[in-house]
Amino acid sequence: MIRSVVRGNGAALPRRIMKNADFEGMVETSDEWIVQRTGIRQRHVAADDETTASLGEAAARAALDSAGLTPADIDLIVLATSTPNNTFPATAVDIQNRLGMHHGFAFDLQAVCSGFVYAVATADLYICGGLAKRVLVIGSETFSRILDWTDRSTCVLFGDGAGAVVLEAQGGKGGIGDRGVLAASLRSDGVHKDKLFVDGGPSTTGTVGHLRMEGREVFKHAVGMITDVIEATFAQAGITAQDLDWFVPHQANKRIIDASAKKLGIAEQKVVVTVDLHGNTSAASVPLALSVAVADGRIKKGDLVLLEAMGGGFTWGAVLLRW
Ligand code: UT7
Repeated sequence: MIRSVVRGNGAALPRRIMKNADFEGMVETSDEWIVQRTGIRQRHVAADDETTASLGEAAARAALDSAGLTPADIDLIVLATSTPNNTFPATAVDIQNRLGMHHGFAFDLQAVCSGFVYAVATADLYICGGLAKRVLVIGSETFSRILDWTDRSTCVLFGDGAGAVVLEAQGGKGGIGDRGVLAASLRSDGVHKDKLFVDGGPSTTGTVGHLRMEGREVFKHAVGMITDVIEATFAQAGITAQDLDWFVPHQANKRIIDASAKKLGIAEQKVVVTVDLHGNTSAASVPLALSVAVADGRIKKGDLVLLEAMGGGFTWGAVLLRW
C-alpha cells in the first residue's frame, strides 16, 4: 500500500527575537507571569520584509534541501496559515511562484492552530488517492500582524515563524511498522467560534482585524479535546502511549502540554517542548517543534511520532506517523 513518508523537513524564523522583558514597558505584565502561566520566554517577530510567504518559502527550501529534492520534484503545496499575505490568491501559490515552480498545484488550508495537522492529514489523502507523489506541507504564520499590542492577555502569547515537511509516496506493508502517516483524526466544532477569533474579515468589516481570545475558556476545553482525539488515533492504529517515541504537541501553553501528556500517560522525556523558544506560532508550531527535535538528534528515522494541535474554531486533531 502507499504511505506518505516524511522525506525532509525545515524551518524558518524571523530575525528579531522579542523576550518577555521587552513587553514590560508596553503592557502591564512581567517575565515571571508569562513564564509561570505559559512557559513562553521569547518569540520571533517578523520585520516588514518578512511575511508568511517569505518565511514559508524559506522553510520550504530548507525542507527540500534536507530531502535532497528541488521544486521540480514537488507536485502539490499545501500551506496551513491563518495569516495569508493577501485575502487572495492563496499564499501557497505565492510560495509556488517564489520557488520557481510552474507545474502542479497549490492551495491554502485554514484551521488556525490545527492547520499543520489538518494539512498533513490532507496531503496524505492526496498521496494515497494518487493525485500527488510528493507534497510540500508548510505551516507559516505572522500572527504579530493581527495582534492587539495593547491587549496583554493575547499579545504576549504569539510569535511568527514557519516549518515544512516533504511527504513522499512510498510503498508500505500496511502495518504499524511502516514509515509514514499511519493514522489521523480530525475534529471541529463551530459552537466555540467566538472563543478564539479575529474581529475582522473581507466579508464582514472589510478589515484584517485583531485576534481576540477568551483564554480561560480555551484552556478549559483544550486538554479534554486533545486527549479525546489522541485516544481515537491510538485506537485507529492499535497502539498505546507506551509505544510512542515522541509526542510533538501544538505549542500554546506548557501547562496544557504537561496536563495532556499526563492524562495520556506519555512520559515527560518523550514530549517535545519549544513554546519557550517560539511562543504560539499557530500552524507553524508543530513543524517548528519537529525541526528542533530533528536537528538536535532526538527524532530519528523509524521513530513513532504523534503530532497534535488544537485551536480557533475550535479545530483539533492528531496525526500518528513513523518518521
Ligand atoms: O493556540 C490556540 C490555543 N490557545 C491556547 O491554548 C491558549 C489557552 N489559554 C491559555 O493558555 C491561558 O488561559 C492564558 C495563558 C491565556 C491565561 O492564563 P490563565 O491562567 O488562564 O489566566 P487568566 O486568563 O485566568 O488570567 C489570570 C489573571 C487575570 O487577572 P485577574 O482577573 O485575576 O485580576 C488576567 O487579567 O492574569 C491576568 N493577565 C495577565 N497578567 C499579567 C492576563 N494576561 C496577563 C499578562 N500579564 N500578560
